Amino acid sequence: MWLSTLLVIAVAALRASAEVVQNGTMCVVTPLSAASGASAKRQFGQQAQDDTPQILDAFKRCGTDGSIVFQEGTYHIRQIMDVTNLRNCDIHILGKWVWSADNLQYWISHTLPVTYAGLHTAWRLGGTNITLRGHGKALFDGNGQVWIDENKNGSNRQGRPISLTIWHATNVLVDGITWRQSQFWHTFVAYSQNVTMTNLDMNTTSHSQYSAVNTDGFDSWNSKDVYLRNWTVTCGDDCISVKGNSTNIDVKNVTCHESGCACIGSVGSNAGQPDFVDDVVFDTMECHHSSNAAWLKTYPGQGHIRNVTFRNFVVDDVNQPIYITPCTYSGNGCDGSRLAISDVTWSNITGTSRYNVAAAMHCSSAAPCRNLHFEGVDIKPRAGGTAKVLCSNIQNQADMGLTCTGTCPGNWPQQLNGNR
Ligand SMILES: *[C@@H]1O[C@H](CO)[C@@H](O)[C@H](O)[C@H]1NC(C)=O
Ligand SMILES: *[C@@H]1O[C@H](CO)[C@@H](O)[C@H](O)[C@H]1NC(C)=O
Ligand SMILES: *[C@@H]1O[C@H](CO)[C@@H](O)[C@H](O)[C@H]1NC(C)=O
Ligand SMILES: *[C@@H]1O[C@H](CO)[C@@H](O)[C@H](O)[C@H]1NC(C)=O
Ligand SMILES: *[C@@H]1O[C@H](CO)[C@@H](O)[C@H](O)[C@H]1NC(C)=O
Ligand SMILES: *[C@@H]1O[C@H](CO)[C@@H](O)[C@H](O)[C@H]1NC(C)=O
Ligand SMILES: *[C@@H]1O[C@H](CO)[C@@H](O)[C@H](O)[C@H]1NC(C)=O
Ligand SMILES: *[C@@H]1O[C@H](CO)[C@@H](O)[C@H](O)[C@H]1NC(C)=O
Ligand SMILES: *[C@@H]1O[C@H](CO)[C@@H](O)[C@H](O)[C@H]1NC(C)=O
Ligand SMILES: *[C@@H]1O[C@H](CO)[C@@H](O)[C@H](O)[C@H]1NC(C)=O
Repeated sequence: MWLSTLLVIAVAALRASAEVVQNGTMCVVTPLSAASGASAKRQFGQQAQDDTPQILDAFKRCGTDGSIVFQEGTYHIRQIMDVTNLRNCDIHILGKWVWSADNLQYWISHTLPVTYAGLHTAWRLGGTNITLRGHGKALFDGNGQVWIDENKNGSNRQGRPISLTIWHATNVLVDGITWRQSQFWHTFVAYSQNVTMTNLDMNTTSHSQYSAVNTDGFDSWNSKDVYLRNWTVTCGDDCISVKGNSTNIDVKNVTCHESGCACIGSVGSNAGQPDFVDDVVFDTMECHHSSNAAWLKTYPGQGHIRNVTFRNFVVDDVNQPIYITPCTYSGNGCDGSRLAISDVTWSNITGTSRYNVAAAMHCSSAAPCRNLHFEGVDIKPRAGGTAKVLCSNIQNQADMGLTCTGTCPGNWPQQLNGNR
């Protein structure tokens, strides 16, 4: 019904050649690239088009008890967007949003901090009662290849912007959006509660000699009640990653390619501060040609990971499907970690591993894993034979439902490059 209303307003907007047309509590935005009037010409000048001022103007005018329609067409975004005070706002995006990549120095020095690991974002969206719908038409293009090449296979790059951060928000729905070539992580949910993200399609693939490092599909941190449904993700790192202080994260029907698939962590990296992860479900996941599938990684820290379920997974050519480490990346201090892992279930996990290891699990001897449960875990090496299950410091190892075939050293790698 809103679509027919939109069409009427759309015509009015075009006739007026204005970029934001407001009617009561509704703002309709037309991209500069589609505006034909003299005002648009004046604004273009010799400079690159920038739709950011109009977008921010619409949020300002209709962000409280209102709605905003971004009409079809291409929007050029050349500046950060800090949109943190929305209230009862319905956002409809029908066009393509392209983040500029000819001004990397601008982004590196202006992107918005998100606290976690000193990272930054191009867009913070926050407030209460927000819907952001793409209707299957919204396309977010981050020009990620430029960032991938600039990053040169490096790790976290300060100032390299996360595409969309849900920030200090309550009651949010994000639906029907496609991402291509994200700058960095596609989405991040932080300090938020009751966030539902459905029907999202992400693909960041490098076409150069450098990998799409750290182009995670989703990360959560200091958030609770987050529901993800119906995603398809191709990315260069963790597909869905639940980080510290996340509670009740419920993920269903996500297909991940080329990624870490379903991941808890990294957690425990905040010097001296504990990290807690509770009540997480990953249900109905496909992990294709991925590094890991259903796994937990922590730094030697404090806090806990408790009550996590991985169920109904199909793994296909996954480097090391099930993995637990208390000393991620460094392989140091593994047995001193006090970050306790307990009540984790892997149920109905079937498919193929790339090499001959199905699971490698080293828990800290200072905080052994408790109540790990496995049922219907049937992972076979792609090349045939039987896969190894390596275990160390698991308290209920004898009756956990999976037979260990050997021990797992603390510095066991996250990815293998051959049979072991
Ligand atoms: C504004 O909206 C009202 C009702 O939604 C409609 O009747 C009116 O024609 C609209 N005005 C313009 C200029 O589009
Ligand atoms: C958010 O929506 C709920 C349910 O419609 C409403 O009760 C609440 O007042 C809204 N919150 C704000 C800040 O307007
Ligand atoms: C949670 O957010 C959804 C929107 O995604 C909203 O419909 C629902 O009312 C919210 N729940 C609560 C308890 O406010
Ligand atoms: C992602 O994009 C690459 C090319 O950019 C393509 O080869 C690949 O098939 C895409 N992934 C999916 C799942 O469609
Ligand atoms: C970047 O990393 C990938 C994956 O590890 C590797 O295949 C590629 O050779 C690296 N590129 C360069 C230029 O080192
Ligand atoms: C998931 O996708 C299916 C098939 O397109 C659809 O019927 C269902 O409503 C979607 N779920 C959500 C939560 O949007
Ligand atoms: C799962 O999500 C995909 C989109 O990623 C959708 O096509 C499919 O219909 C969904 N399946 C179910 C059972 O909802
Ligand atoms: C996580 O939550 C705990 C307890 O509320 C708090 O002490 C800690 O600072 C939080 N960690 C981070 C990194 O925010
Ligand atoms: C474990 O998590 C599930 C799903 O979030 C929840 O329903 C259940 O109550 C939790 N169990 C405990 C013991 O907290
Ligand atoms: C196991 O998981 C697969 C993939 O999600 C699903 O098709 C199958 O129905 C599940 N089996 C059981 C017994 O639930």
